[in-house]
Amino acid sequence: MAERILDSTRVEIGDVSDKTVAVGAARQLCKQAGFDETRQFMLATAVSELATNIARYAGKGEISLRIVESAGRTALEVEAKDNGPGIADLELAMSDNYSTIDSLGLGLPSVKRIMDEFHIDSAPGRGARILCRKWR
Ligand SMILES: Nc1ncnc2c1ncn2[C@@H]1O[C@H](COP(=O)(O)OP(=O)(O)O)[C@@H](O)[C@H]1O
Ligand SMILES: [Mg+2]
Repeated sequence: MAERILDSTRVEIGDVSDKTVAVGAARQLCKQAGFDETRQFMLATAVSELATNIARYAGKGEISLRIVESAGRTALEVEAKDNGPGIADLELAMSDNYSTIDSLGLGLPSVKRIMDEFHIDSAPGRGARILCRKWR
């Protein structure tokens, strides 16, 4: 069954303030995709965490947001991508409270819990790419 992208937007992340733009775009697409307010808020939180990580650890990168339709179902797809230093130990990075900068270390685990599908791809020197989806 073919998937269709109903709408999409891309936000460049250059510093922590760009997070606001990404969060606003996420809220708008979520609303358009028909997510209720609770889920709009949760998805905005996920996007906020991913944007914060890009700004903090990679300095710059981008977040792409897509409304995807497949077999009559609708999802918000979030792709966070950067060419920063990458993550050496993915399992550790996905653990609650693990942080290399003495922060809360709950960002990536929270994003995984919020989303239905979550893929992370990263290695030292190869940047990081997180692709995730939440179905309505
Ligand atoms: N885009 C990224 N590039 C490089 N390292 C990252 C990236 N995102 C997360 N990390 C690493 O994974 C760790 C855990 O991330 P996260 O769960 O968001 O917690 P926190 O940001 O509070 O440390 C970070 O401390 C950092 O070392
Ligand atoms: Mg974080």
